Amino acid sequence: MNTSALFTPFELGKLKLANRTVMAPMTRGFSPNGIPTDDVAEYYRKRAEGGVGLIITEGTLINHPAATDNTSYPSFFGEEALAGWKKVVDAVHSAGGKIMPQIWHVGAVRRPGTGPFPEALSASPSGLVSKDKKVFEALSIEEVEGLVADYAEAASEAKKIGFDGVEIHGAHGYLIDQFFWADTNVRTDRYGGSLVARSQFAIEIVKAVRERCGDDFPIVFRWSQWKQQDYDARLTNTPEELAEFLKPLSDAGVDIFHCSQRRFWESEFEGSDMNLAGWTKKITGKPTISVGSVGLNQEFLTSFRGEGAEVANIDNLLEKMNNHEFDLIAIGRSLLSNPDWVNKVRDGLIDQLKPFTQDHIGRLL
Ligand SMILES: Cc1cc2nc3c(=O)[nH]c(=O)nc-3n(C[C@H](O)[C@H](O)[C@H](O)COP(=O)(O)O)c2cc1C
Repeated sequence: MNTSALFTPFELGKLKLANRTVMAPMTRGFSPNGIPTDDVAEYYRKRAEGGVGLIITEGTLINHPAATDNTSYPSFFGEEALAGWKKVVDAVHSAGGKIMPQIWHVGAVRRPGTGPFPEALSASPSGLVSKDKKVFEALSIEEVEGLVADYAEAASEAKKIGFDGVEIHGAHGYLIDQFFWADTNVRTDRYGGSLVARSQFAIEIVKAVRERCGDDFPIVFRWSQWKQQDYDARLTNTPEELAEFLKPLSDAGVDIFHCSQRRFWESEFEGSDMNLAGWTKKITGKPTISVGSVGLNQEFLTSFRGEGAEVANIDNLLEKMNNHEFDLIAIGRSLLSNPDWVNKVRDGLIDQLKPFTQDHIGRLL
């Protein structure tokens, strides 16, 4: 098996990666009161030592009281949490790796009365968790503008601490995606209406991050067609709609698009084998990250239903990478069960890889 397509360096401005592998962001809940502990640093250091080119951290919360419903998910604000993150950055850098935080707000998915600030009102574009399911009030324009500033603040902290860039979580039906999605955004102001108008929140966030962090700080934007509220949901149905959606985001300053699919080999539109990352690269001309069941025979949502997954070969991945369909590939669960997955693949030791089992999700390191 010739894996060289995975092991050519990647360069974008100041961002220099040793290879094409990315650790996918994976929430863990091992940061009591939002503070990443030394174990968190150790967990990421292990993956850097295991050869991962770029680590994207688990979702970490912007400074907004309704950003999460879980007190063990890490904060990305406050002296203590940021000091914890600084240790993570240093640990990864000392192992020769690169790392970006994924900045996150769950929006309407937060159950009222939960999280570190239970009294806070949950936040979302129109108070809708899914179509016609209104559970609370819509955000005011001033509140939306405040959230834009909160994302920019988090990105600016990431730069100060020494992260190699930032990933904005715009996928999977969380806050930014709730703005994108017509089922959850029925606003009539500048943040609602057409798909491009519904993208305004994300566009303003990207521009604000760019302004705060400067031209040479890499901005990765993660997005998905599917939502946790509806796996069959789609933001765009044709390459033309996709282009209409992506152009303003690309122009706003996204450097790399991270296109989340549950199975990377699935083609996006009829008549072509290209996947979502392939189309996004073709349309924007920007580098893209693909993701979804690399090295495994089951997609990741089954793992939340208690199921494991067997090791699968990566021939189809290598074929796509050889064709330069996308630039980078994110690996999720395979890196939970095998911190050294990348080095093992490089060394041809695929037969030594462990399958993914449910208990890897709860495992500390
Ligand atoms: C335990 C777990 C936690 C996850 N948490 C996040 C997250 O915080 N942010 C995010 O964008 N995706 C999250 N995901 C999705 C992964 O980033 C990835 O897209 C998905 O697992 C598919 O990759 P895989 O099949 O290689 O595991 C999570 C997945 C798992 C398994």
